[in-house]
Amino acid sequence: MERTYIDKQMDNDFIKRQQHAPLGDALKAYQSRRVVPFDVPGHKQGKGSRQLKAFFGEQAMGLDVNSSKPLDNLCHPISVIKQSEALAADAFGCDAAFFMVNGTTSCVQAMIMSSLREGDKIIMPRNVHRSAINAVILCGAVPIYVNPGIHEKLGISLGMSLFDVQAAIKKHPDAKAVFVNNPTYYGVCPDIEGIVDAAHKHGMLVLADEAHGTHFYFNEKLPVAAMHAGADMSAVSMHKTGGSLTQSSMLLVNSERVSIDHMRTIINLTQTTSASYLLLGSLDIARRELALHGKQTFEKVLELAEYARAEINVIGGYYAFSSEIAGHEAVHDFDRTKLSINTFALGLAGFEVYDILRDEYEIQIEFGDVANFLAIISVGDTHLAIERLVASLAQIGRQAKGHKQDMFDHEYISPIVKATPKQAFYGKQEKVLLEDAVGRVSAEFVTCYPPGIPVVAPGEVVTAEIVEYIHYAKDKGAMLTGAQDMDLTHINVLEGE
Ligand SMILES: Cc1ncc(COP(=O)(O)O)c(C=O)c1O
Repeated sequence: MERTYIDKQMDNDFIKRQQHAPLGDALKAYQSRRVVPFDVPGHKQGKGSRQLKAFFGEQAMGLDVNSSKPLDNLCHPISVIKQSEALAADAFGCDAAFFMVNGTTSCVQAMIMSSLREGDKIIMPRNVHRSAINAVILCGAVPIYVNPGIHEKLGISLGMSLFDVQAAIKKHPDAKAVFVNNPTYYGVCPDIEGIVDAAHKHGMLVLADEAHGTHFYFNEKLPVAAMHAGADMSAVSMHKTGGSLTQSSMLLVNSERVSIDHMRTIINLTQTTSASYLLLGSLDIARRELALHGKQTFEKVLELAEYARAEINVIGGYYAFSSEIAGHEAVHDFDRTKLSINTFALGLAGFEVYDILRDEYEIQIEFGDVANFLAIISVGDTHLAIERLVASLAQIGRQAKGHKQDMFDHEYISPIVKATPKQAFYGKQEKVLLEDAVGRVSAEFVTCYPPGIPVVAPGEVVTAEIVEYIHYAKDKGAMLTGAQDMDLTHINVLEGE
């Protein structure tokens, strides 16, 4: 049997290589040289800002430096950044890795903008993060939405069935790429190997959004990672479950169908020329940690998540779901490190539990939606923290009244598409009251953040159900973003449509 990539991470040669952190070491060496800075940043390693230095500490301020020969340059890496990116590609098991400092948003943008031109089609589920539809607007591509499927009991959107992707490929053989979430926010994974096979047979690229799947690369008990399934590119949020600093991400590439040099050019269209070395250094050091200790780390995370699920499921009112939802055609696999919890039987919306936990129990969870919420478990968690979450949920459960008739029971609404996102975004618009927008074509996004999946996107019809959803979400305290009217009393729609 062929050895899996994760087995190879146990090789002595791999471990020897991965003990290095070229960029981290270069930063350390640079600091120890006590270089006198006559370049930017103007705070001059903290000397010019006593307040910042007191706030962030001498070490952090000293590492906030500009690119220079000893530290390489992110836009044109030829030394230590190049070596660190090569080690990252080795760690993740792909041909190239790009360090990115504008979040996974910039990785998603680069994948889409490099694969598609004006008018090109991309097959994608509609439950993508807004960064994907934003990128489609930027390059003028045409999204072909595949219904991701909805879980009957949980009301959550799923991961696209292979059958539906194959049907979309058959109907749109001229599409240039297939975009997949691996996994969704809740942990749902599609049959990525099947999708890669179907897409490649028709000359299409596979672009994976693995914002929530960095850890898949380091433990074989987790779902298959996109690069190992043969996808062409993947956007991984190192800062989410990989342990690096917020905003730092990586774009992974397999080079059989993608030019690495072209990717660098596309990335440099929008990339800053002043990349933060705090972010870059954190990527290098977090990669070393993952490569050397990722397997054990995620073993522990899995154990904590399983323990939390078992405890929460005996409270009553909550359903902490897991791999038992897999086997459904749109749930090929499930990421068991995710603590995704349904609240429908509790009579509280996910948004409400999210707020109560923070306001009354000083517990910050990742997000809540109409009837679910998600707690991220990571290497930084302890049994004690899990016990506190479980005890707080038990207390909230005792005070809840149980299922109410007026609860919204699904977070996904299938779109009615009338124009491409770009046509609508740049089209002639008028501002109308949200209630009066029913039947009109939206020119802007409305997105609950988090999770960042648009309720309505430019080019889609505003239906009565969407307006009802928005009112429900607002009422329950959700943060609704994207529209120009930040109160969302009004919405911009296409003139005359
Ligand atoms: C699925 C998905 N893709 C992309 C992103 C964008 O990531 P970032 O916030 O790092 O730009 C997010 C952010 O939450 C996400 O959930």
